[in-house]
Amino acid sequence: MMKIALIGFGVVGQGLTEILRNKSKELVQAGFRGELVAVATRSRGSLYHPDGLDPELLLAAIQRGHLDYYPDVYGLYRNWDTLTLIKQCNADVLVETSNTNLETAQPALDYCYAAIEHHMHVVLANKGPVAVAYAELQRRAKAAAVKLRFEATVMAGTPSIRLAMQALKGCEIREAQGILNGTTNFILTQMEGGLGYEEALAQAQALGYAEADPTADVDGWDAAGKVMILARALFNSTITLKDMEVQGISQISAADVKAAQEAGEKWKLIARVTPTSGSVHPVRVPLSNPLAAVSGAMNAITYNTDLLGDVTLVGAGAGRLQTGFGLLSDLLDIAGVGALS
Ligand code: HSE
Repeated sequence: MMKIALIGFGVVGQGLTEILRNKSKELVQAGFRGELVAVATRSRGSLYHPDGLDPELLLAAIQRGHLDYYPDVYGLYRNWDTLTLIKQCNADVLVETSNTNLETAQPALDYCYAAIEHHMHVVLANKGPVAVAYAELQRRAKAAAVKLRFEATVMAGTPSIRLAMQALKGCEIREAQGILNGTTNFILTQMEGGLGYEEALAQAQALGYAEADPTADVDGWDAAGKVMILARALFNSTITLKDMEVQGISQISAADVKAAQEAGEKWKLIARVTPTSGSVHPVRVPLSNPLAAVSGAMNAITYNTDLLGDVTLVGAGAGRLQTGFGLLSDLLDIAGVGALS
């Protein structure tokens, strides 16, 4: 049984919990037994039960606004601070889904370090620690003989990281480029359908695509964080936000969208990473470009390789179950489920 401590219980943490609840039978059949033993939030309480927490009751409690609504059960501990919880709990894996901070990565980075020190594997949806401290996290994880996984940080559960780091092993990847933010792609698509910018953004928030502070999406920083992650994971690059040219979509008006449409083009926020550079900026692409067909919260990435040429992956870039699945895929990977024999 894999015991899981979940940090952050927003859209993504709830998405994973829903999947664990809804697919428990199929997962057991596939050879995966996992249970949440701890859930910690910044302002909505925390819970720990060494024998496991009930996903249904967790979701019901958080829907009422606070984990204090989880019923009293013998052996349940409440409202420990997050670091104490990580140090005291019996979890095998820490799943980090708290809000991304691309400057300090805190407090999530300290949670990851504490977990590794306590010989827990670490799985992240939070982009901050991977973007800011990838090399140090890997160093510590290797020294502690635990695994660090972060599929959900780029393109939700669409296996962009696994494709590059596992399936394409043996190819040299020279460049990665694509649409790496679901919120902005959704907004641009809705604007093409005639919706106003603000309304489209509100929809993206309601659908759980946007970051807690959506300026990270619309100003390009979320995509830039993903560029940092890819730069580190693919190229061991230490590129920082300051080294990158980053521009979002907030300058794109309804008139700009219309002008592109009239010219048979679409605006797309394109992220690009090479061994020595990274950038994010809006580009008008012709309808004949395959990226023009990637709409809504879908994302796409093209890896340019020496042996295969271009390899393109298209799939969900954001969302509750989509990102929850990214976490699950890492948990399955750590458990060895799905490994080829
Ligand atoms: N806010 C992000 C996006 C979530 O819209 O792509 C997934 O990282």
